[in-house]
Amino acid sequence: MKFFVDTAEISEIRELAETGLLDGVTTNPSLIAKSGRKITEVIAEICDVVSGPVSAEVAATEYGQMMKEAEVLSRIAPNVAVKVPLTPDGLRACHSLSQKGVMVNVTLCFSAAQALLAAKAGAAFISPFVGRLDDIGQNGMDLIADITQIYNNYPAIRTEVLVASIRNPIHLIEAAKMGADVATIPPAVIRQLYAHPLTDKGLAAFLADWAKTGQTIA
Ligand code: E4P
Repeated sequence: MKFFVDTAEISEIRELAETGLLDGVTTNPSLIAKSGRKITEVIAEICDVVSGPVSAEVAATEYGQMMKEAEVLSRIAPNVAVKVPLTPDGLRACHSLSQKGVMVNVTLCFSAAQALLAAKAGAAFISPFVGRLDDIGQNGMDLIADITQIYNNYPAIRTEVLVASIRNPIHLIEAAKMGADVATIPPAVIRQLYAHPLTDKGLAAFLADWAKTGQTIA
């Protein structure tokens, strides 16, 4: 399973890239706004740090303007994945961009039918938002189960399931059990993945016993 980080904060991205566990980055207009920086500059900087796909989202809602923005974004670096919303214009742009060899991430997916459309439009990634479904009382993970089942029925589908709006480690584990290709995870949740009280307790005991030996490893 590939791990992307869902942030536009370059310091967080640098730190995670150093772990060797980071396969890509996703951003969205809200994350860019939070960074307080110009989208082209921040995406260029992220692409210098991460060689895997870096999603940069168009802000236009109309096909022609989306294509113009996609041109600007995809020119930043070869690893930019242009993110488009799951709307008729967004899917039309996805189809055109995919034909030109541009990697497209179709975002704001909330149904299996939408995921099927994105695959037909040639999306490199489909982003179903699990946390936001949970927020309205629907089970986000059920959507991942449906999409992975449907995509697996058709080996010709190359679209990768990118689980988005992850809020906790359980979302990630469930997505991995279902065979989702990618998870985009907020930095705080990535940090949670390392944690287990028995690891801390066990390490403290080992270190205490080791200190009693008076040894050093050299
Ligand atoms: C994915 O690409 C989105 O940026 C993100 O996962 C949305 O998550 P949120 O619902 O926590 O805002």
